[in-house]
Amino acid sequence: MKALVLAGGSGTRLRPITHTSAKQLVPIANKPVLYYGLEAIADAGIKDVGVIVGETAAEIERAVGDGSAFGLNVTYIAQSQPLGLAHAVLIAREFLGDDDFLLYLGDNFILGGITSLVDEFRANRPDVQLMLTRVANPSAYGVATLTAAGRVAALEEKPERPRSDLAVVGAYLFTRAVHEAVRAIAPSERGELEITDALQWMLDHDRDVRPTVITGYWKDTGNVADMLEANRRVLEVLEPAVDGTVSTDSELIGRVRVCAGAEVRGSRIVGPALIGAGSVVVDSYVGPSTSIAENCRITDSEIEFSIVLDHASITGVRRIDASLIGCHVEVAPAPRVPMSHRFVLGDHSKIRISS
Ligand code: G1P
Repeated sequence: MKALVLAGGSGTRLRPITHTSAKQLVPIANKPVLYYGLEAIADAGIKDVGVIVGETAAEIERAVGDGSAFGLNVTYIAQSQPLGLAHAVLIAREFLGDDDFLLYLGDNFILGGITSLVDEFRANRPDVQLMLTRVANPSAYGVATLTAAGRVAALEEKPERPRSDLAVVGAYLFTRAVHEAVRAIAPSERGELEITDALQWMLDHDRDVRPTVITGYWKDTGNVADMLEANRRVLEVLEPAVDGTVSTDSELIGRVRVCAGAEVRGSRIVGPALIGAGSVVVDSYVGPSTSIAENCRITDSEIEFSIVLDHASITGVRRIDASLIGCHVEVAPAPRVPMSHRFVLGDHSKIRISS
């Protein structure tokens, strides 16, 4: 069995972070979301992985390399334009051959991995094994309706009026039967070859499409709220450890990890929280569900429920909450007079001012 991992796309909902970084590389608990997927693939016993790359190819290739760091053998496949998930399957035909494969969306985060899904597929080998989960906002996803017997009855992509709350999770298992379907469908209104349409085509042609409804945690990390929530979940099971230095006038409460080379002085850190290697936290409060990446400086500030990317510096600000702060960002107070805000904001930045 092979895997096809989608790591293209432009990540518009995570701008401006994705102006300079691929959305699949934005970290959750200081590790790119894509790495969780690659580790889950290796855990499920799959070795040969095709990675579909687009505009951000160079960055993805730098981060993943030949896959050996994950115990994988990675082949890159270039998609010249983001023309849809089914299009990615179409252009990967030579790599996939006639093998069964897992299609995995690189911005999806599935707590607990995919091993049981892969095992179920291996045992029964239906044409398709889908992973479904109940969500509050089905219109944002592919939506499945099931028959009374628990089979897939129909699928719709981002319906305005969803007929169920079962969203299609971005991990699908296929036999080679899918290739006929991706060749048969036409582009959708958004101009993409939708995998959902290929699946519906297979249902219409009496292919065996089986659902697995999962109850574990899943997020498509395409937006900031979902990133923060996935980060919170991973931090909840973080092993506390102090590999850096913590001064005696500091306080660590709950699950806190201070990585090697990090320094905490005169500060209070309430976990779960992660302070990345080389970061310095001075006279500050870092609250629950916060990940500070490597080489950041947090001075005389308060921050919680946030993700801070590497080399960012935050000085004299209280309080930062529910925020995603990019690499090399500087946040600092303006001079007292005049009372004004001063910004140098990148394209598509989003700020919320409390004054
Ligand atoms: C894609 C699929 C959708 C699925 C979702 C899961 O949506 O088209 O059916 O539910 O991934 O993450 P997209 O991320 O392309 O909007």
